Amino acid sequence: MPLPNVLKTPPLFQKLQWILDPVRYMESAVQQYPDLFTADIVGFGDTFVFVQHPEAIQAILTQDHTKFFASGRDNTLLQPLVGDQSLFLLEGQNHRQQRQLLVPPFHGSRLQTYAQQICTLTQMQLSQLLPQQPFIARSLMQQLTLEIIIQVVFGLSHGDQYSQLKQLLTALMDLFRSPLTTSFLFIRSLQKDLGTWSPWGRFLQIRQQIDTLLFTEIAVRRAHPNLDRTDILSMLLLAQDETGQTMSDRALRDELMTLLLAGHETTASALTWGLYWIYKTPGVREKLQYELQSLGDAPNPLEIARLPYLSAVCSETLRITPVAMLTFPRVVQEPIELLGYPLDMGTIVMGCIYLLHQRPELYPNPKAFKPERFLDRQFSPYEFLAFGSGARRCVGDALAMLELKLVLATLVSQAEFELVDAQPELPRRRGVTLTPSRGVKMRLVS
Ligand code: HEM
Repeated sequence: MPLPNVLKTPPLFQKLQWILDPVRYMESAVQQYPDLFTADIVGFGDTFVFVQHPEAIQAILTQDHTKFFASGRDNTLLQPLVGDQSLFLLEGQNHRQQRQLLVPPFHGSRLQTYAQQICTLTQMQLSQLLPQQPFIARSLMQQLTLEIIIQVVFGLSHGDQYSQLKQLLTALMDLFRSPLTTSFLFIRSLQKDLGTWSPWGRFLQIRQQIDTLLFTEIAVRRAHPNLDRTDILSMLLLAQDETGQTMSDRALRDELMTLLLAGHETTASALTWGLYWIYKTPGVREKLQYELQSLGDAPNPLEIARLPYLSAVCSETLRITPVAMLTFPRVVQEPIELLGYPLDMGTIVMGCIYLLHQRPELYPNPKAFKPERFLDRQFSPYEFLAFGSGARRCVGDALAMLELKLVLATLVSQAEFELVDAQPELPRRRGVTLTPSRGVKMRLVS
């Protein structure tokens, strides 16, 4: 059966455009096909369908897995980074079991213990900024979110292991800082080890150093178990499957890598976008400051996290500039119709978060930053999709939202900033995510 709304552009050109300028690629495709289209881009399979209509998104993400399977093997693009036993690549029963283990520590009362740490770490970063000295917000936010996730996952906040891990993870992620340097993830033929001067060689070298650190930490923790520790690694070390089997070192390494990478890259970009929109859009900073002042001098972090305008600013940031462009793939299990288009078994479909969030009937004047949208109406999980939905919904959604609210609230209430650069920031690929093209140059005024 022919695939629906196949783009006419030659596949090679599509692949290059998807790697080098994904936003232009999606925006030009949606002009032709507003609700869904078939893309031919590298890294996932021969062809797959981008879906940006809310009803169709609801169908692919929530119908039972006998119709749309939340596959893991189609995430092989991420395999070199996180390994075969990462939650990203697991599927079926193994995936469900691993999620049952990982979701609780990132939600509910456990989150409260992270709230104060987030505020303290933000204040420490803030205290290192010099007045009038320009800084790149993306770099500062990356340092901060890395510190937060290392503390949540390992319970580490200082020491050699901590400093080395921070430095190596930053170096690893900086390999993906531009669309060009990201190409080797998408183009297999570039995955050649030609020594440390080649991108792939450098990638393998840094990955090896990180692995050594992670395996050492796992061995130390196994040798000296401490039941009082509440970090994620301690919990994973104790976890057993139904046969009483604990996780192997390799499985632990893959999961740690997944949480460390997914848990700081995305949040760093989201925070940078948040700062950009707050200081770019007239009136937003003032409204935030006014709302924050209403809580008095030393507000409880959880009270801050409940503030409506602050929450709306964070949601609108993830709406207008979503860090994740797409959900993970879902695979059609039996011939089915989506919005009247027939799809064969085996077709790969993905929710297109970026295009969904640009639909004018949901978000009038979609290119304008307007937090009030989120105060005026409630959006369904298929209209606002920043964290995906269903079987693969983001495990760290609540932690990410908490970080967004508390970091932005701390910065906005405790200092005055301004943007240094009047030029608009455009969304640019960084790995598989979108980040501000120049990283947002700012200055601490006082
Ligand atoms: C603003 C920050 C973040 C954004 C925008 C984001 C977005 C997403 C999206 C769109 C998905 C795929 C959902 C789907 O296919 O339905 C996802 C999955 C995932 N995210 Fe996040 N994420 C963020 C932060 C985090 C954090 C802080 C963590 C961990 C601490 C995390 C861990 C994960 C994991 C492990 C998955 C895979 C879930 C699975 O396969 O079952 N993410 N995220």
